[in-house]
Amino acid sequence: MNRKNILITGSSKGIGLETAKYLSKSHNVYITGRDENILAKLTNENNFKGFYAVDLCSNDAPKNLIENLNTNIDVLINNAGVYFYNSIDKMTQDEIINSIKLNTLAPYELIKLTVPYMKEQQWGRIINIGSISGVMGEANASTYSMTKASLIGLTKSLALELAQNNITVNIINPGWVDTELINNENLDKDFSKSEIIETIPQRRFVTPLEIAKTCEFLISDNAKSITGQSINICAGLSLGF
Ligand SMILES: NC(=O)c1ccc[n+]([C@@H]2O[C@H](COP(=O)([O-])OP(=O)(O)OC[C@H]3O[C@@H](n4cnc5c(N)ncnc54)[C@H](OP(=O)(O)O)[C@@H]3O)[C@@H](O)[C@H]2O)c1
Repeated sequence: MNRKNILITGSSKGIGLETAKYLSKSHNVYITGRDENILAKLTNENNFKGFYAVDLCSNDAPKNLIENLNTNIDVLINNAGVYFYNSIDKMTQDEIINSIKLNTLAPYELIKLTVPYMKEQQWGRIINIGSISGVMGEANASTYSMTKASLIGLTKSLALELAQNNITVNIINPGWVDTELINNENLDKDFSKSEIIETIPQRRFVTPLEIAKTCEFLISDNAKSITGQSINICAGLSLGF
């Protein structure tokens, strides 16, 4: 496969950064996050093609991101996400709105902006990073579960809509991954890391590299028939207790 231009949102740390590092061995990877200095340093240290700092919750952020990258995107990985752990009566308006903006609206807008080129060249790959909490449900994570579930609907609808354009659309739903996202003050009060592990059938965290390698496969020609799929990489979490 020739080198593809890959945009990965939320690639300053965690799953996104690991995926960027892994895919940059064979593709041109563009990274994003909110801190320009961090992104510049990462781009220097790694073999990344470019970066753009943007708060994807702000107005016109997806448009600004795509305009400033000024390159045709072959592969879009919608990875940036936010997780709030709060009971519904304590969930703030900001937490509700930001969850919708970052986890749902930004992916939608970014797909809308990158699909015209993919259609033109009759090739494209879109990978949404959902969560097992969007497949099952998670107590005290209503905004997260709601917005991640909506990405599954978006994935399936677009996979159908774009099937004849040689564009595949899939969603990866990770289980618990030990990143900054789960270093959450409210979550910590209810569960320690070892208590979380006790709830996972394989008794381990999923690693960011497992997600990165699945992205690599979904981009490859071997995965061209895989579209509209909701892929759980969750160490058995989706199976029940
Ligand atoms: N960790 C888990 O257990 C887990 C489980 C299931 C699904 N996931 C999903 O996997 C994806 C990656 O999660 P992660 O665990 O790697 O999280 P993470 O380590 O917290 O990284 C989140 C990334 O998103 C970026 N980001 C956050 N808010 C942003 C905003 N408003 N505008 C632009 N970028 C923003 C962050 O960039 P800056 O902070 O540098 O701006 C960072 O690069 C998310 O969609 C998450 O929901 C994670």
